[in-house]
This record gives sequence, structure tokens and C-alpha cells, in this order.
Amino acid sequence: MLMFIYQEVLQPIMYYGEFTCLRAVESSDIDEVLKHWNDLNFRRLLGPPIPWSRRYLETWLEKRINTDPWKDKMIELAITNKATGEFLGFIHLEDIKRPHSRAEFGISIQNPENQSKGYGTDAMRVILWVAFNILGLHSVYLDTMEDNERAIHTYEKVGFKRVGILRETEFIDGAYKGLLVMDILRDEFEKANPTFKIRMTP
Ligand SMILES: CC(C)(COP(=O)(O)OP(=O)(O)OC[C@H]1O[C@@H](n2cnc3c(N)ncnc32)[C@H](O)[C@@H]1OP(=O)(O)O)[C@@H](O)C(=O)NCCC(=O)NCCS
Repeated sequence: MLMFIYQEVLQPIMYYGEFTCLRAVESSDIDEVLKHWNDLNFRRLLGPPIPWSRRYLETWLEKRINTDPWKDKMIELAITNKATGEFLGFIHLEDIKRPHSRAEFGISIQNPENQSKGYGTDAMRVILWVAFNILGLHSVYLDTMEDNERAIHTYEKVGFKRVGILRETEFIDGAYKGLLVMDILRDEFEKANPTFKIRMTP
């Protein structure tokens, strides 16, 4: 008599794009993050460059690891290289507002060697697809330093539109800078990325 053995294969939830894979953030990511987190050129793009200790970064990471998308209104994921599994950075949706179906978006790829290689664009398409097709959101917005040309170019590439500038609102290295606010609606994302779809398996 033939016996069939069904073996259940564990399939962790991960979102695969063309070059990147988004997975849950883990405490073990800390060493990789610390390598570049205090880099001046990187941190200037995010806000006032203040050094973070390992403990502080661990606390920040732990808070984000422990979030519930609905209760804490945020989801933070690690961006990894789809081919090698290398940790590349963080990507998140926060301030998720259920009645309005909107959220704020943020991304950082820390190691300069991993920037401008197409990972950011791909990871953004993945999280926006998740935002609109898994979380059921209607719009996503962000803000960025008005002179962060690479980020602005990348955001426009995936379909974000310029909304306006909060003038002289960030004090960085002794001078005030404006923050450019951008947003994207679900149908605009689909129009800008008509064939894009994530995979849940490699
Ligand atoms: C912004 C960021 C997420 C973009 O991700 P990335 O992987 O570097 O971006 P990509 O390689 O997918 O695309 C970069 C695009 O910007 C272009 N670019 C690079 N430097 C540029 C510059 N100085 N000015 C304008 N465009 C620039 C690239 O040519 C590319 O566009 P193309 O594909 O049309 O040629 C990433 O660089 C990053 O995390 N930077 C540091 C932190 C940061 O700025 N975060 C955003 C804060 S709001």
C-alpha cells in the first residue's frame, strides 16, 4: 500500500520585488545597522546629526520590532538583497490611519556602497504594493529634505507627487531647510507601475 507523507513546509512571510526582499526586522540586524548608522553624510539626510549609542539604537530597534500594525499603527521591515540575503536598510509605513486609509512612508539604505544600485526604487515599489494591496490603504505620504535630490528623484520614479514645502522647518548644521511633502494615491501607483506585482516566494 502506498503511503503519502505530507510534509508541511514552513513558508515565512516575505515580500519579494525584482532585486529586494522585505522581511521582519530582527534584533540580530543591529551589528549590520551600527556599521553605518552614525555616518555623518547618511544621518544629515534624516535630521540633526546626533551620535546614537548601541544601546539607544537597540532600544529604537526593539520598539519597532514589537509593533503591531493596527494597534501601534506602524510596520517596519528590513530591506534585504534578494539574491544574497544581505541586510540593506529599513523601510516603514507609520501613522497608519484606518478611517482615512493612509500612512506615512520612510526608507533608509545605510551603506553608501548599496545606494544608487536600484534597491531603493524596488523596495519602495514593494512596500507601496503591500500598502495598497495587503493593508488596503488609499494614500501614502512622506517628507524629505528639500535638497535630498536622489531621494526626491527616486520617489518621483515610483509615482510620488510633490505636494508642497514646509519652509525652514529643519535645523541642520546651523541652517534651516525646508521639508518637501510628497504623496501617492493607489491608482497613481498602479498607473506609474502597471506591471509591478510582488511575490511571496523567492
Ligand atoms: C534615498 C534612497 C532610499 C534611494 O535608494 P537607492 O537605492 O539609493 O535609489 P535607486 O538606486 O533605486 O535610485 C536612485 C536614483 O537617483 C538617481 N540619483 C543618484 N544620485 C542623484 C543625485 N545626486 N541627484 C539626483 N538623482 C540622483 C540615480 O541615478 C537613480 O535614478 P535613475 O534610476 O533614474 O538613474 C537611498 O539612497 C538612501 O537611503 N539614502 C540615504 C538616506 C535617505 O536619503 N533616505 C531618505 C530620507 S527621506
